[in-house]
Amino acid sequence: MTATTAAADASTNQTKSMDDIMALCKRRGFIFQASEIYGGINGFWDYGPLGAQLKKNLRDAWWQDCVMKGAGGQLGPNGKPVSIVPVDSCIIQNPKVWEASGHVGGFNDPMVDCRESKRRYRADHVRVMFSGASGTDPQRMFAFIEGDDDSRNQALKKMQKYLKDGYEPHNVGYSDLMSFDWSAFAERIVGPDVATPGTLTPPRAFNLMFPTVIGATGDIEDDKAYLRPETAQGIFINFKNVVDSTRVALPFGIAQTGKAFRNEVTPRNFTFRSREFEQMEIEFFCHPSETKDWYDFWKKWRMQWWESIGLGGDNLILREHDADELAHYAKEGAGTSDIEYRFPFTAPGYGELEGIADRTDFDLKQHKEHSGAKLEYFDTTRGELAKNGQPKGERYLPHVIEPSAGLDRGVLAILCESYTKDDSRPSPEIMKFHPRIAPIKAAVFPLVNKDGMPEMATKLTLELRQRFGHLGFIESDAKQSIGKRYARMDEAGCPFCFTIDGESLTDQTVTMRDRDTGAQERMAMDKVGDFLAGKLGVDSSSSLG
Ligand code: GAP
Repeated sequence: MTATTAAADASTNQTKSMDDIMALCKRRGFIFQASEIYGGINGFWDYGPLGAQLKKNLRDAWWQDCVMKGAGGQLGPNGKPVSIVPVDSCIIQNPKVWEASGHVGGFNDPMVDCRESKRRYRADHVRVMFSGASGTDPQRMFAFIEGDDDSRNQALKKMQKYLKDGYEPHNVGYSDLMSFDWSAFAERIVGPDVATPGTLTPPRAFNLMFPTVIGATGDIEDDKAYLRPETAQGIFINFKNVVDSTRVALPFGIAQTGKAFRNEVTPRNFTFRSREFEQMEIEFFCHPSETKDWYDFWKKWRMQWWESIGLGGDNLILREHDADELAHYAKEGAGTSDIEYRFPFTAPGYGELEGIADRTDFDLKQHKEHSGAKLEYFDTTRGELAKNGQPKGERYLPHVIEPSAGLDRGVLAILCESYTKDDSRPSPEIMKFHPRIAPIKAAVFPLVNKDGMPEMATKLTLELRQRFGHLGFIESDAKQSIGKRYARMDEAGCPFCFTIDGESLTDQTVTMRDRDTGAQERMAMDKVGDFLAGKLGVDSSSSLG
């Protein structure tokens, strides 16, 4: 591979190693395995100090841009400012909510179990490779997990061994486990982690809801409740409350961030598919005739937003769903798209970061029917004109466009995108976070720990904390050589370091060092705050940044 193609592959994430990224995340305190000292717990992750701040910065950026600015402070397709209000609803709701939403009955994944290895797989993630004479049924099929190179290589080895034992590879092919007649082929399939055929059970539906019990004496049958599998339903059930208690008028959105829980059959790929994760969701309510305009608007703007916080280029795509991928709430012809990112474990393919769906009036209609509440909206701007020339009004169930993003997946995409290897640098691993999202905003170093330099460094650190502490860490570090301190900050993704040296004592200047280029620039100490404000995109005239 030439240097140019290696660089191109790195920028498309094809040569980035998840093992390296996960090791850095643990070493620098971004992400830890949950319950690690007890051996961990599958599908759960904790965020360390840098990870918690990174996640908060991403959540805050979403909150400010989507909610407070109203889709970035632009006009919507109706030529008016976009109106969005937040809610913060409970994780546990009346279980009838989840019956109405369709989750109790229909939120299932197909799974298969292996009787021999005792492992469980998502049936739609298992593929088989097979061989056989053209036009005949395959004699053996070797199952592997899609996107898992180790699993695929193991299946290939098993197939090659089998072929050596006397069978000819006529027609080597691949197929989705769900796409053929199970009863005819089950005995011929060799599971991903075993050598003998016929150990996989037929695919069956597995409900992803996490049940829990309410009350001290509660038992699971009488007092069963569920942890929410999406934040969206907390919005739908409060639609009427929000309309009645605020001055919002259609079209408008209700937004919420928070935890969601799904008992995923096979959690995997670091935090990508977890059992506990956080969502950032908007339900945007509009007149049924306006859904197409708002759907197109949200698709375009959500792509721009992810680009604005550092996920640009070929690694980000918008993909319209095929008809067979539609979710239970999406009706034929209603659009659903995914914003997808090319993670190292999906490369050269992509994985979902955010879904943008036309949910029609499915959810409000379901809650109206199940609860008996009147959830129609009375729109005074529509309807026939009365004698006085004013519209008589129209009562209807709004339709909904839903941009639904995963916060943990966003953090993971940012970690993968930022991870950069440069062997020519003292620390070859650099996290090139966008300054707005970086958990450490700046670091201040005294060149040596004497001669008044530590005092000056402390003064500048405190000034910067006063002004920017609400946005992230302002670090101070006096230990080891200056090169090692820069290297530590590169690995933690700190975009700017400021060093106080002998000259600083006489002329009140400092050296600013840029993480991405390594370039250094001399600047007046009293200009550091404004410089940082400019780079972080915050108002330099405000004392709060
Ligand atoms: N309210 C719609 C909804 O929940 P979804 O596609 O199931 O739609 C939205 O989830 C987003 O939540 C996804 O695009 C993804 O980023 C994130 N997400 C879903 N399941 C996840 C999981 N098991 N682990 C981490 N993130 C997940």
